[in-house]
Amino acid sequence: MCGIVGYIGRREAAPLLLNGLKRLEYRGYDSAGIAVLNGQMEMFKKKGSVGNLEEELNVSGSVMLGATAGIAHTRWATHGDPSDRNAHPHMNVSGDIALIHNGIVENYMSLKQELIDQGYIFASDTDSEVLVHLIDRIWKSDPSLDLEAAVRQALRHVEGAYGLCIISSREPDKIVVARKGSPLVIGIGDGEYFIASDAAPIVEHTNKVVYLSDGEMAIVTRDNYTVKTIENVEQEKRITELDFSLEKIEKGGYEHFMLKEIFEQPEVMRDVMRGRVRLEEGRVQLGGIADYLDRLKQAKRIVICACGTSWHAGLIGEYLIEEFARIPVEVDYASEFRYRNPIVSSEDVVIVISQSGETADTLAALRLAKEKGAMVLGICNVVGSTIARETLCGMYTHAGPEVGVASTKAFTAQVIVLFMLAMALSKGRTISQDEIGLYLRELTEVPDKVAQILDQNEAIRKIALEFKDARNALYLGRGFNFPVALEGALKLKEISYIHAEGYPAAEMKHGPIALIDEDMPVIFIATRDNTHTKILSNIEEVRSRKGRVIAIASEGDREVSRLAEHVIFIPQASGPVMPLLTAIPLQLLAYHIATLRGCNVDRPRNLAKSVTVE
Ligand code: G6P
Repeated sequence: MCGIVGYIGRREAAPLLLNGLKRLEYRGYDSAGIAVLNGQMEMFKKKGSVGNLEEELNVSGSVMLGATAGIAHTRWATHGDPSDRNAHPHMNVSGDIALIHNGIVENYMSLKQELIDQGYIFASDTDSEVLVHLIDRIWKSDPSLDLEAAVRQALRHVEGAYGLCIISSREPDKIVVARKGSPLVIGIGDGEYFIASDAAPIVEHTNKVVYLSDGEMAIVTRDNYTVKTIENVEQEKRITELDFSLEKIEKGGYEHFMLKEIFEQPEVMRDVMRGRVRLEEGRVQLGGIADYLDRLKQAKRIVICACGTSWHAGLIGEYLIEEFARIPVEVDYASEFRYRNPIVSSEDVVIVISQSGETADTLAALRLAKEKGAMVLGICNVVGSTIARETLCGMYTHAGPEVGVASTKAFTAQVIVLFMLAMALSKGRTISQDEIGLYLRELTEVPDKVAQILDQNEAIRKIALEFKDARNALYLGRGFNFPVALEGALKLKEISYIHAEGYPAAEMKHGPIALIDEDMPVIFIATRDNTHTKILSNIEEVRSRKGRVIAIASEGDREVSRLAEHVIFIPQASGPVMPLLTAIPLQLLAYHIATLRGCNVDRPRNLAKSVTVE
């Protein structure tokens, strides 16, 4: 996720800004840039690390000497590849306004077209650049405005999320900032102010901060700051005293990245859907595949290839696409697909799913599918990754960088993308427009429901306390929840080193039931759906063999509470939406069991975040 730093004061801005960017490196990024006001605007941007940018400044950065105000950014690509030109800041053509942006401008395409029609020339492929030209246009059309007013007017045209910092050589003694959906904090120093997307770059300078709320702007000068709403109403803001360490801030106040990433999911889910789920129109808009949608709908068969957690998302994708689009789907481990001379032709569509976009087996499967003439679509989290580049078209998950080795938020983001894809493929085929509308509404309700589940974190930790010394665990689910059972088992084994297996619940009697005794925890995903009575019988079977049952059940399900030793209740949803909810308590359960056992959950032994070897 992108990072923002701003400084205005009496000290050299450039070294402070670079240092601030380094504090934000933990968020993950692919390029960095800086702009300072030094009589005129000076700007440098570089693909790669902050170190790269620093080297560039050592060579040519003396122009920044003496500048005491500026802004800097680390970019995690969403629109446009990681590159020098797509890095922030973005400048207007006359080079007197510079802007950095976190978030996504949803309506950037229409705004960009409008600006191009008016003669604006774009220097990048980003959505963010429209903002600087928009401000420029408004300011030029009414020179009586100041920067603040021009920004305010520009924001009226913008749909989406933003955390913004803007400077202008026409008003060199201020930084204008604005927030909607993307955090910003102002650090209050002595005759100097810091602005950042979180407190990490600020904490070493001051512990006094003001958090901007959504819909607020601030005008920050060397001696003062004023917070107003975007509608220009001045706001009284409380100054908060920071009392935590840098390390804690990097993890967003959480003990581990994994826990932070689990808790980020409601926000991430909203980001994944942003601009794509069009509730009013009852449809999804998937820009990355729009030109290929008709061809995709003609596919005789879809083959999904992936590894690890992404493979589990692929299994859920199979259920979703078959349910909604009635196109036959096969899901293959990328490693199996590539080594078994698969039957694939130009009538097939191959979907490769990869958080990192670099997994060696998935990449090889992609290349093989292409060789065999299939159309290959990618679902990746890392923009500009090899898989994203080599696929014909695709969709990014926009989950932000995932640091914890065990995938959590990237998984649920993949499932949402697959859900939207299944909806796009189903349009006009098998389910009615009304049904699509209802499912999409349900999908948009998922983030709030996930937040409710996260509220049960402490209760889940207490259950984990009882099971932390288990040596084995069995995860059972049916239908849409079967792949979640596999994912739950994988989460537990990879971070706690407890042997765990996932099974379709009905398969229990074909083998795993032999393992059940009083030491065997069995985690049932037993939400209400058309197999509910069957799963109740499976629970009875486990209980009668003294197995210890933890059940994930729909709110108010008395039958399950009567049978299970522990129940984690989750809000009700229809089957296709359910995996997005049932996955959450299993992530938390695995996390707590592992931490209670003293395991390093962010870096489990022998595992790598991205497996680029075969
Ligand atoms: C590794 C990671 C897993 C991940 C898998 C596939 O094994 O530890 O968390 O699911 O690779 O990675 P990808 O980046 O292709 O999704």
